[in-house]
Amino acid sequence: MKAHDKNNKESSVCIYDNGYVEKYLEDYYLHPFWSIKIKENRNLLSRVMKNLPTSAIWLDLFCGAAQYFEVAGNDIFCIGIDYSLAQLKRAKSIYSSCSYDFFCCDVRNLALSENSRFNLITSFWAALSYLRSPMEWYGVLQAVSQHMASNALLYLENPFPPALMDFNETTFSKSLTYRVLKVDKDEIEGWTRWIYTDSGGLHKMLTPDFVILKSLLEDIGLITYRISTVQTIEQIVAVRPEDEYLVKQLIR
Ligand SMILES: C[S@@+](CC[C@H](N)C(=O)[O-])C[C@H]1O[C@@H](n2cnc3c(N)ncnc32)[C@H](O)[C@@H]1O
Repeated sequence: MKAHDKNNKESSVCIYDNGYVEKYLEDYYLHPFWSIKIKENRNLLSRVMKNLPTSAIWLDLFCGAAQYFEVAGNDIFCIGIDYSLAQLKRAKSIYSSCSYDFFCCDVRNLALSENSRFNLITSFWAALSYLRSPMEWYGVLQAVSQHMASNALLYLENPFPPALMDFNETTFSKSLTYRVLKVDKDEIEGWTRWIYTDSGGLHKMLTPDFVILKSLLEDIGLITYRISTVQTIEQIVAVRPEDEYLVKQLIR
C-alpha cells in the first residue's frame, strides 16, 4: 500500500465545533459509563510513564482536548495534533506551560521534520476510525512509525468488530440513544464502515478487523498486542520486535 491519499479531504472537522466540544466533554468525560475507561487509561498511562526516559516526547494524534496529558510528568514534552480549532482551544486552556505544544493539522497530512523522534505516540478513543480508507489508515500509521524513537510505544484505541456492535447494548447507548450502525455498501474485506450518531450529528467511520490492523502494523515493522477491552474500546500497543519487553512491563 502507498502512503497518504492526500486528495481525500473528506473530514469531520465541522462536527467538532465549539458547541459540540462542550457537549462531547459532558457526554464522554463526565458520564459514569466512561469513567471506567478513563480510569483504566490513566492507570495504563501511569505505567507507561514509569518506563519513559527523562525528557521524553509524547505525540498525541487526534488529541481533542488532550485529556490524558495530565498524566505526564513535568519532564515529558507533550505535543497534540487535531484539526478542530475548538478542541485545541480547550486543550490550550488546560495546558498552557512550555511543556505542551498543539498543532492544528489534518493527521493525514502530517509533515514531521525528518529527525523528529517520539517516545510515545497515542491515539485515543475511536479517532483513527475517522480515516476514510484502508490507505489512509496505512498512510498515517506508516508515517508516524517512522518517527518512533528507540524503545518507543505506539498506543491505539479502537472499537473492533464484533465488540463495535455491542456498543448499542450498553447503558450509555441506551440512555442517550447514541447508536452505531453498520453501512453495508462500499464493502472492503476485513473492514467495517459504520456511522455513529450523537449530539454532534453523524460521524462516518471505518474500522479494520483486529487481524487486519495487526498485519498492517506488521507490514510497517511493528508487533501488536491487545492490552484490554474497556467499555467496548480495545487498548492496543505496538512496538518494534526488539522492544517487546516494554509491553511485558505494561501487562499486569
Ligand atoms: C473521538 S474524538 C477523540 C479526541 C481525544 N483523542 C479523546 O480521547 O478525547 C476525535 C478527534 O479527532 C479529530 N480528528 C478527526 N479526524 C482528524 C484528522 N484527519 N486530523 C486531525 N484530527 C482529526 C477530531 O477533531 C476530534 O477532536
